[in-house]
Amino acid sequence: MNKKTISFTLNGESREFDIDPNERLLGLLRRNGFKGTKYGCLEGTCGACTVIMDGKAVDSCLVFAFQAHGRNVVTIEGLGDAGTPHEIQQALIEEGAVQCGYCTPGMVLSAKAMFDETPTPDDETIRLHMDGNLCRCTGYEKIWSAMKKVSAKHERGGKR
Ligand code: FES
Ligand code: FES
Repeated sequence: MNKKTISFTLNGESREFDIDPNERLLGLLRRNGFKGTKYGCLEGTCGACTVIMDGKAVDSCLVFAFQAHGRNVVTIEGLGDAGTPHEIQQALIEEGAVQCGYCTPGMVLSAKAMFDETPTPDDETIRLHMDGNLCRCTGYEKIWSAMKKVSAKHERGGKR
């Protein structure tokens, strides 16, 4: 198969990757160590593979790797870590919204794309942005509480 070389900004760094023409972005990320991007349904319904591309949350299982060429991609590795969680991660922890954690990276990235666009989203906006991210553990109420908590923090003028 013909290999191609593409380049894009990944978590703030300019990177170059050799790809197969029919490879998906999800596979490219994971084989290069970005394993916070999860395999789930592989058909665009669960959101476990969500990354941010040019400011929008996308299912990386549906994006060909070559489509990332020249773009700006953010994975969960580009956000906080255990010592310094991003505010969305912090809110999910505080609200007890993480159980097995498999859905969490995608959930965080969908939320980040939403809050970057709309710092204080109304309920409908939260539903619209988060409805592509499925969670088999939490029943969603705690995730909902975490989203409302971040929104309330922004409302009070808290740092994003
Ligand atoms: S693995 Fe991509 S949406 Fe489920
Ligand atoms: S915490 Fe387990 S799938 Fe969401």
